[in-house]
Amino acid sequence: MRTVHTLKELRTILRGYRRQGKTIGLVPTMGNLHEGHISLVRKAVESADIVVTSIFVNPMQFGATEDLDTYPRTLVEDQDKLAEAGNTLVFAPSAEEIYPEGLARHTRVIVPDVSEGHCGASRPGHFEGVATVVNMLFNMVQPDLAIFGEKDFQQLAVIRKMTHDLMLPIEIVGGPTVREPDGLAKSSRNGYLSAEERATAPVVYQTLQQVASHLADGRTDFQALEQEAVKRLSEAGLRPDYVNIVNSLTLKPANPADTELTVLVAAFLGTTRLIDNLSVSR
Ligand code: PAF
Repeated sequence: MRTVHTLKELRTILRGYRRQGKTIGLVPTMGNLHEGHISLVRKAVESADIVVTSIFVNPMQFGATEDLDTYPRTLVEDQDKLAEAGNTLVFAPSAEEIYPEGLARHTRVIVPDVSEGHCGASRPGHFEGVATVVNMLFNMVQPDLAIFGEKDFQQLAVIRKMTHDLMLPIEIVGGPTVREPDGLAKSSRNGYLSAEERATAPVVYQTLQQVASHLADGRTDFQALEQEAVKRLSEAGLRPDYVNIVNSLTLKPANPADTELTVLVAAFLGTTRLIDNLSVSR
């Protein structure tokens, strides 16, 4: 497995593979890889001849008060995990390689509707940063398919819409959320939790399961269910940002006639913001 840091090296290597008629799968990440990321790489290895994993902590998607500077950077450990999973090429550019003229005057991609609300409301500019860098990665790698985790449910919807609206010839594949044995969704940010917070964290998934089971039973009093969930999280010591029951496709507030519903949650545990979701068909 090779690691390259520049666009020039990336393009030279990929040109060679393309000439041989190989298909290319892309797994975009910000590094600090865990079993969730590795499951996406394994899925890509099954579906494409060549798998490129990008590792780039994208400054454009972080708010001014967020954890850009402290976000864990663990390239050597990440490379070992990727090699074991059968990844072909790591693209780990610097911020200067991606934004040579800085962020302020850089062209941005705005994806309306699905970027609004939920994390889009709490983290202004976040999805603009995600859509811009993912679009750039798509242009740099020109993959046949790209794989993203379903844990970031709204992000996946934003990328699907961007790919559709900009007519990008790329198949977008979602990979299921990987959980710890106690239900906590794997996340690079779980490492920020103290031992006490880590013991509390599974309540997020337990709350999602409770709401999902009420929805599967046919309940349509969505606001009451959201409020019950907020109460449960608050009582456990979290500071809920939102619990929203939405139509899985549009991410708009659920309607009693909807058959595909998703419960989206974001909540702070100490200073760590946890997000998770659970979908229900009925
Ligand atoms: O999900 C992530 O890790 C990031 O948002 C992504 C898709 C790699 C874009 O920076």
